Amino acid sequence: MSEKITVSVIKADVGSVVGHSRPHPSMMDKCREMLTDGQKQGIIEDFYVTRVGDDINLLMTHYKGENHKDVHGLAWNAFMEATKLAKKMKMYAAGQDLLTDAFSGNVKGAGPGSAEMEFAERASEPMLFFMADKTEPAAYSLPLSRIFLDPFTTTGLVIDARAKKGFDVEIHDVKDSKKVVMSSPEETLSILSLLGDTTRYAIKRITSRSGIGPAAVVSTDKLNMTAGKYVGKDDPVCICRSQSGLPAVGEFLQPFMNTMLVAGWMRGSHVGALYPCSVDNSDPTYFDGPPRICCIGFQLNDGRFQGIEPMDSKPGIHQPIDFFEGQVWDHVRSNAVKASKMMRGHGPFMPAILSPEEMEYTSRPEVLKELTKRLEKLD
Ligand code: 13P
Ligand code: 13P
Ligand code: MG
Ligand code: MG
Repeated sequence: MSEKITVSVIKADVGSVVGHSRPHPSMMDKCREMLTDGQKQGIIEDFYVTRVGDDINLLMTHYKGENHKDVHGLAWNAFMEATKLAKKMKMYAAGQDLLTDAFSGNVKGAGPGSAEMEFAERASEPMLFFMADKTEPAAYSLPLSRIFLDPFTTTGLVIDARAKKGFDVEIHDVKDSKKVVMSSPEETLSILSLLGDTTRYAIKRITSRSGIGPAAVVSTDKLNMTAGKYVGKDDPVCICRSQSGLPAVGEFLQPFMNTMLVAGWMRGSHVGALYPCSVDNSDPTYFDGPPRICCIGFQLNDGRFQGIEPMDSKPGIHQPIDFFEGQVWDHVRSNAVKASKMMRGHGPFMPAILSPEEMEYTSRPEVLKELTKRLEKLD
């Protein structure tokens, strides 16, 4: 057993009511039941089950390190059990993200998304969990760039001596399965030169250069690539540690005041604006979206999730802070709807739909096949 704590988020869409809206509450309860068992068996230290749109997110802490087969196995089994319920209730797309019948020790490549970080718990450890639905991992590239590379967003990069040392950014080429670690601030412009291509590059991990350890990690499992065919966008999560040499909680939230267009939305084939909202308001309600993002926060307390204890709950059951719940985000939400509506005005024309390689659905090969005999060379 390692002294270091590992925080893992493993997530999957295993069916929802109605269409791609939200997992049935009994599916979430089943996951809670399975993780309670896992906690009793000593596989995990603590857990919190939540969701964004139709994706179930399992937040877990343990001392087993990243990619541990027992932790991944526990999450897999929870999703399998939830799938059984989903099938029984004829939920839409039941079992959508479980791509194999035989679990091989790690959820990577098997369908669910995962983000994990191992670190020495600090005296105080404020953590944020971003969770998005109807979009892809590269949706985090713009806000994370602003948070970690832009002093006009994060004043801490200028006035906090440890943050000023900068950050190492691990970038994945999700098409070619390659990775590279680049350092800010020296290589900031080159980092942005890669990340600007959101069809190919995404941030996987950001690490402090002043010895604090991991600061952010994103799930980058590209489901459509993994499965070789469309089975749902990967709807990514991002785990962040904050404060004391890392960006402050408020600095993490700041870039979401801007309206950002991302790929995903209806049929995983459109461009829509990221809509920050509470977990309770994360059902997609407009054209299967707009792409939703939630942010919840916990303090870690010796490996446990320390939140608030609501008046009506049992002692020891902690609820996170839900950062995008309040009125301060209302105007961002209305801007996101305005921008999304503007995109919808284009119907099935680019840039409202994605480029041909990025479309999750297309009928073009059939259309071209039918036209083979009618297609003529231009004079
Ligand atoms: P169908 O192809 O089953 O209609 O699914 C479409 C879909 O899942 C996008 O919402
Ligand atoms: P999910 O990836 O959230 O299942 O959504 C699929 C879709 O096509 C929605 O229109
Ligand atoms: Mg779905
Ligand atoms: Mg989803």
